Amino acid sequence: MDAKFTNNAEDIKNIMNSFWEKKVDFSQVKLVSAEPVWFYLEDETKLVGYINGFIIDYGYCKEAEITNLEIKSNMRGRGYSKQLVDKFISYCKNKSADLISLRVEKDNEIAKHLYLKSGFEEDQKGLLMNLNLK
Ligand SMILES: CC(C)(COP(=O)(O)OP(=O)(O)OC[C@H]1O[C@@H](n2cnc3c(N)ncnc32)[C@H](O)[C@@H]1OP(=O)(O)O)[C@@H](O)C(=O)NCCC(=O)NCCS
Repeated sequence: MDAKFTNNAEDIKNIMNSFWEKKVDFSQVKLVSAEPVWFYLEDETKLVGYINGFIIDYGYCKEAEITNLEIKSNMRGRGYSKQLVDKFISYCKNKSADLISLRVEKDNEIAKHLYLKSGFEEDQKGLLMNLNLK
């Protein structure tokens, strides 16, 4: 049995119909498109930090993900990352996204504190797994 590729909306509806318990409005299903979302801070001409991620529109729901957040080491502790995270959140709200997810290393207490403060909740079941393709 070979795995088959599809990006056909009808196939996707069929797959979801047979696997998902949660009822979704299948008439809303459309092909996935991802919108890259980047915000950055610049001090005069020097880059201070950035946040990036994307929003995926599945048609029946919109999910966003924060991929990276980084502040130059000499500019940390001044509230810049909170500013970037809040900007990312309001952008996603304006785009009617349903949720934002992210992965954070277990021992990255600063980042966890920051995200908790911005309203994120820890997913106790969450597993962080990476597959490096390069
Ligand atoms: C995580 C990171 C983005 C935080 O950036 P930052 O601009 O320094 O964060 P902020 O100044 O906005 O502070 C956010 C919160 O963290 C706290 N914090 C910042 N630096 C801290 C430190 N060294 N120790 C303890 N708390 C710290 C701040 O006090 C603040 O909390 P508060 O508002 O309750 O006081 C930055 O440390 C970084 O670039 N780290 C390397 C990359 C990384 O780990 N990215 C996250 C990937 S998910």
